[in-house]
Amino acid sequence: MTTIETQTQTATPPTLTPHPSIPKIPRGPVTATLNFYQPPPDASKPFNYVEQPPLGHPQRNYSDKEQTLTIDDIRNREAEFNLNTHAFAAVQDVRSQADRALFDDDDAIKRVYYPEVEALLLKATGAKRILLFDHTIRLASPGANRAPVNRVHIDQTTASTAQRVRFHLPEAEAEEALKGRYRIVNVWRPLNPPIVAHPLAFADSTSVPDEAMVGIEHRYPDRTGETAAVKHTDGQRWWYWSGMEEGERLLLQCFDSEGGARVPHSAFIDPRSEEGAGRESIEVRALVFG
Ligand code: OGA
Ligand code: FE
Repeated sequence: MTTIETQTQTATPPTLTPHPSIPKIPRGPVTATLNFYQPPPDASKPFNYVEQPPLGHPQRNYSDKEQTLTIDDIRNREAEFNLNTHAFAAVQDVRSQADRALFDDDDAIKRVYYPEVEALLLKATGAKRILLFDHTIRLASPGANRAPVNRVHIDQTTASTAQRVRFHLPEAEAEEALKGRYRIVNVWRPLNPPIVAHPLAFADSTSVPDEAMVGIEHRYPDRTGETAAVKHTDGQRWWYWSGMEEGERLLLQCFDSEGGARVPHSAFIDPRSEEGAGRESIEVRALVFG
């Protein structure tokens, strides 16, 4: 009796409180707000200036329509989703030679990280050729150069994907490539895992009809591309991947000349995550041939 009581009093209580530097990772379905397309009030063609707009022009002439909805968690269901049907895929246990410091150096990213992305995409898509054409590092902190994008969009459309192919390949090669299958896939990864604040939401391609897509003139200083904004429609199925870890990669297919699966996506504020927590990520954009 006495012995038992003594033991009870002196036993170390289990440590249930996580270390303060390790954020608690919210999991499972979450109710959050996404920004969908709100047309210009004068019914003019929507545009967006990529850089500083010309004097007297707004950055963009359309705005956002908020919609609060349920975003479900693909965690532990990763294998249910694929590029051909849903237009997104989740890859796990990816090894990388790139440490955090490497991502502060654009040349090192191309030298070390690009070949890893190329190998990953060759395997994930079964394609013949990968051409990486761009990457963006995003920081969710005040004054960051490129912040998370809190607006539902798709990076390219049918027109701007063909334009991309012609932009990056010699003319004869481009025309040949455009006769076969060509896709654009982004490979997105965290740089300060796990992802807790500002996660990425993405919609099952089959749940978003073509009527929901709106072409947006994407005005660079020297040329005009096209992105898609997205209207909210009934039945859209939205997903995120809770607590994305270091070895995890999200594949986002923006265009596919065969099958047509494309993924609307947007960063969102997870109301369960702590105010002010940062997010660092890199997305690499790829043309995928064959
Ligand atoms: C993308 C994208 C937004 C973000 O990878 O294409 O839109 O907030 N990313 O990371
Ligand atoms: Fe995007």
